[in-house]
Amino acid sequence: MPKLKVVTFGCQANELDSARIAGLLAREGYSLVEDEREADLIILNGCSIREKAEQKLYSRLGSYQALKAQRPGLRLGVAGCLAQREGEGLLRRFPYLDVVVGNGEHLAEMPQLLQIAADRPVAAVGEPTGLFPTDVDVHRESRFRAWVGIMEGCDNFCAFCVVPMTRGRERSRPPDHILREVAWLRDHGYREITLLGQTVNSYGMKLDPPMSFATLLRRLDAEIGKAMRVRFTTSHPKDVTADLIEAMATLPCVCQHMHLPVQAGSTRTLQRMKRGYDREEYMVKASALRNAIPDLAITTDIIVGFPGESESDFSSTLSLMREVAFDGSFAFKFSPRPRTPAAEYPDQVPESVRTERLRQVLILQDELSLRRNQEQLGRTVEVLVDRELRKRDTGLAAGRTRQNRIVHFGGGEIEEGVLASVRITGATAHHLKGVLTASL
Ligand code: SAH
Ligand code: SF4
Ligand code: F3S
Repeated sequence: MPKLKVVTFGCQANELDSARIAGLLAREGYSLVEDEREADLIILNGCSIREKAEQKLYSRLGSYQALKAQRPGLRLGVAGCLAQREGEGLLRRFPYLDVVVGNGEHLAEMPQLLQIAADRPVAAVGEPTGLFPTDVDVHRESRFRAWVGIMEGCDNFCAFCVVPMTRGRERSRPPDHILREVAWLRDHGYREITLLGQTVNSYGMKLDPPMSFATLLRRLDAEIGKAMRVRFTTSHPKDVTADLIEAMATLPCVCQHMHLPVQAGSTRTLQRMKRGYDREEYMVKASALRNAIPDLAITTDIIVGFPGESESDFSSTLSLMREVAFDGSFAFKFSPRPRTPAAEYPDQVPESVRTERLRQVLILQDELSLRRNQEQLGRTVEVLVDRELRKRDTGLAAGRTRQNRIVHFGGGEIEEGVLASVRITGATAHHLKGVLTASL
C-alpha cells in the first residue's frame, strides 16, 4: 500500500483541503503516515497569506530534496494557495518537484496528475471555478468534530489580500449537499461542526435561487436540533445582517461565538484597505450582536502597520479593541504581497514600527481576554471534551465552551467527544479552569 504524508501550512480551509486530499488518495490506495521518511508521496499544502507562510513551505521543501535523493521513488507535490499563486514556475524553481496542484476542482485532479508525474513533472493551476466533489469522503481526524466547507473563493479584493487570486471567485455549495453531509455527521455521532468559507455570511447570494446564510443556519437547525453544536468562520462585517443576528440569537444549535475580523480601527485605514465598512458600521454591528446575544464571544483579526497607518490611526485600532472588548484576536504585521494594491502603496510602515505596534496589540488583547475570562468565574458552562484526562500529564481534561473558550478541568473521568457541565473556578488570559459537575 503506498504511503502519503500531507503537511498543512494554512488556515482552516487549507486544513480541510488536506483532509480532502487524504480522502481522495485513500480511494487510490494511499494510507496516511506521520513520518515523512516512510512516505511514497509527500504533499505540501501551501499558504500565501503572508510572506512567512511561504518561506516555511520553501524551507520544508528544501529539506525534502535530500530525502528524495535517498529514495528516488518518492514523489513530491505542492498544493493549495501557494501552488495556485506560483503555478508552473515552481516546477522550474524546484526541479525535484513532481506535481503542482491548485485549489477548488484542481484538487480532485490529483490522481490523474500523479499518473502523468510518473513520466514528467506536471501542474494544474488554472483559475479555480468549481468546488471539490461532494462524493469524495473527506478524511476526518476527529470522530466528534468536523469541518464542513460551504463555499469557496472571495469577491472582496481587500487591498492587502491574495485570497481572491488563490481561491477564485466566490461560489457556494448547494444547500442540499451541505445538509446531506451534516446529516451523515450527525448519524455518525459527531457533536460539533464548523461551517467554513472565506466569508461564510455572504453564503448563497449567487445561488439560483439565492439563499442567505441565516436561512442555511435555520435549515441546519431544523435538521439537527440539539444533536450538534454549529460554529462558522469567517464572517465579514459588511455581511452581518439583522436576519443573521436574529438567527444566531434564536437557533439552539448555533454557538455563541463570532469571528469578525476588523483589521483596523481607523476609518481612513479601512477605506485604504478596501474593506467595505467603516469604524462606525463595525461598532454598530458589534453592539447589535452583543445586545441580541448577551453571552456572545467576539474574536477578530488585526493587521498592524498597513501602509500609511499613522500613530493616530493605530491608536484607533487600540481604542476599538477596548470598546468592543474582544474575547480574542489574531494580530499580524502587514506583509506586502506581490500583485496586491497595498504592496504598491508608497507609504509603507517601517518594520520596527510594525513590530512595536504588534507588541502593543498583543499586550492589550491579553488584558482584554483576561478580563472577559474572569467574568466567567462561578458560572457553569457547557464544554465539549476534546482531550481526555488519561491522555494528559496535567491531570486535567480539556475542552471548549460554546464561546470557544478553552477550559482545563478536573473532578472526574470523562471521555473525549462528550458534552460536560463544568463550573469555572479560575481564569487566565488564554484559558479557563474548572471542575466537572455533570456529563450532559
Ligand atoms: N476572509 C477573512 C480573512 C482571511 S485571511 C476576512 O476577510 O476576514 C486571514 C487574516 O490574515 C485576515 O483577516 C488578515 O488579518 C490577515 N492577512 C491577510 N492578508 C494579510 C497581509 N498581506 N499581511 C498581513 N496579514 C494579512
Ligand atoms: Fe481576503 Fe478580504 Fe476576501 Fe477576506 S474578504 S479573503 S481579507 S479579500
Ligand atoms: Fe492561506 Fe489560502 Fe488560507 S492563502 S490563509 S491557505 S485561503
